[in-house]
Amino acid sequence: MGMFSARLFTWLQRADFYRDLHNEAVEQLPVGDGAAWLDIGCGPGLVARLVSRRGYQAVGIDSDPHMVRAAEAIARRERSSARFMVGGMRGQPRADVVSAASLLAVLGDPGDGLRVLWESVKPGGTLLVVEPTPEMTVRNANAIIGNGLPGRGKNLLRLWAFARQGRAVPPGIAASLPAGSMHLVPLLNGLAQAWVIRKLCI
Ligand SMILES: C[S@@+](CC[C@H](N)C(=O)[O-])C[C@H]1O[C@@H](n2cnc3c(N)ncnc32)[C@H](O)[C@@H]1O
Repeated sequence: MGMFSARLFTWLQRADFYRDLHNEAVEQLPVGDGAAWLDIGCGPGLVARLVSRRGYQAVGIDSDPHMVRAAEAIARRERSSARFMVGGMRGQPRADVVSAASLLAVLGDPGDGLRVLWESVKPGGTLLVVEPTPEMTVRNANAIIGNGLPGRGKNLLRLWAFARQGRAVPPGIAASLPAGSMHLVPLLNGLAQAWVIRKLCI
């Protein structure tokens, strides 16, 4: 993705609405107590930083070294214990929680990507996916902003919607995962959602 994308996602991750919706997503899980959390496609590291504050040993993985460098710089500045590494989805160590925010839609085969993420979840663990829904359109983004979306960076919601409208990944692709149960949590007035998929202890 490169340096420009790293800058763009750093701005986006700084926007209050973006931080708030990811915070709401990670709050679907209990506090960590030292459990391992792997965030794949971490970008500049927002999710890893949020969950390290909730007691997880957080590691963010991204295939783009510019993203990892941005994540490391922000973590240093914010004195976060989250760690970051350049890497891909396959062959990662198993973790209690694996997350992927806005990753599936950029993969060629989201269903295959989901199955690879699932392999890194320990039995009894959780896979957390955050993805825009079909409601993520510029029109709906404008409506939410017009209705008084609070905080800084709200204009970046238009940009996010522009980039993502018509490209929602359906949560139905999780039906092919073996031995799991899923519930969906609407975020940002339904423009995005969290898929919380628990793996059975077998
Ligand atoms: C749309 S950005 C989302 C960044 C961040 N998760 C967020 O929600 O703000 C997708 C990220 O996934 C990374 N990525 C794409 N394919 C990947 C792969 N196969 N393995 C690891 N990272 C990948 C990209 O470099 C990019 O940083």
